[in-house]
Amino acid sequence: MYRIGEAEVARVRKLIESGRMFRYGKGGECDRFERDWGKHVGVPYVRMTRSGTGALYTALVGLGVGPGDQVVVPSYTYMATALAVVGAGAIPVIADVDESLTLSAKDLERRITPHTRAVIPVHMVGLPCDMKGIMRVARRHKLLVLEDACQAVGGGYAGKKLGAIGHAGAFSFNFFKNITCGEGGAVVSKSRAVFDRASVAIDCCSYYWNPEEQREDLQFAGHNFRASEFEGAILNAQLRRLEGILQRMRGHKKELLQVGEEAGLKSIRNNSLDFECGTHLGFIFGTEPEAREFSLRLGEREVGSFLPMDTGRHVYTRWDPIMRRQGAHHAALDPFKLAANRKCRIKYSHDMCQDSLDILNRSVLISMHPDNKRARLREMGKAIEAAAAA
Ligand SMILES: Cc1ncc(COP(=O)(O)O)c(C=O)c1O
Repeated sequence: MYRIGEAEVARVRKLIESGRMFRYGKGGECDRFERDWGKHVGVPYVRMTRSGTGALYTALVGLGVGPGDQVVVPSYTYMATALAVVGAGAIPVIADVDESLTLSAKDLERRITPHTRAVIPVHMVGLPCDMKGIMRVARRHKLLVLEDACQAVGGGYAGKKLGAIGHAGAFSFNFFKNITCGEGGAVVSKSRAVFDRASVAIDCCSYYWNPEEQREDLQFAGHNFRASEFEGAILNAQLRRLEGILQRMRGHKKELLQVGEEAGLKSIRNNSLDFECGTHLGFIFGTEPEAREFSLRLGEREVGSFLPMDTGRHVYTRWDPIMRRQGAHHAALDPFKLAANRKCRIKYSHDMCQDSLDILNRSVLISMHPDNKRARLREMGKAIEAAAAA
């Protein structure tokens, strides 16, 4: 969460005073956010959810992914990306990231089998994936592409907004994201068919709320990941802040990147420096001890940093339900045990993405903040120079 205040309070107050917190039947806050988020991202169809995990899972349902399918996910992402695949009944295949800390297009292609149906490129820590390379591989092998933009809300790649490049996109608006309503999410797509199916998964009654859309093909059992007007109200206020927040962080990051590079540091590869979120500055070192030393020195000067390897459930080796192949609460529903998945099941091991572990252990990320003032940026620059010299 970067900024929240009176604008959000005023909108929520107005909503409470209206007494109408249910989203359907009034054309209120959720409708408005979905329309505006669609315009912002550049897609015609948006459906809010209760979380990014819900957005990923329902987008996979929207895309028609299920048992018998493999879905490639990167080794560095919050485990919800892989769990959403299992939730849809499919099998996640884990591929390496490259020095951009995002999915390697080359390794994606290497992991493709006759069962591969889709890929989820994840724009981690605000950094866009190599979408050109990934889309090229996807086209060549007829893969569906679901962008996980949960950590890159509002970011872009080569002039396009993240989430709008693949067949569908998923966003999170949880507390830690670029804009937030505490917990929340959204599915976006250019395809009406994907949107319709995702909508049923998001709200088992969605065709009932829109009776003109009663369709036989949409009458499958969905869930309830439906957003309330509270989320809509807060996000409508947050959306106005988004561009300003990202512009400031992007600017700060570029300045500090230059300081680091002039001090002899190597930046992590960036697939779209002018359009990414700017939430994290990253450097990559020759060895893990060098990276740890750099991070330690920054800490001594009160500049927080972390190694991606240390971020718990964001590295595949820590995705316990996947590594242990415990894919459901009930054995009969477990994708790792389903007969339909017999041919596409795979073995997981800790060394299956050794290149990723090497990269994640040698990288250091420094978080930006839009409220950093010039004096703070100077301090951060000095700390980077000193830590680089050490
Ligand atoms: C890359 C990524 N994907 C998916 C999610 C899931 O989002 P949520 O926590 O809103 O369910 C997160 C959340 O942190 C995430 O970082």
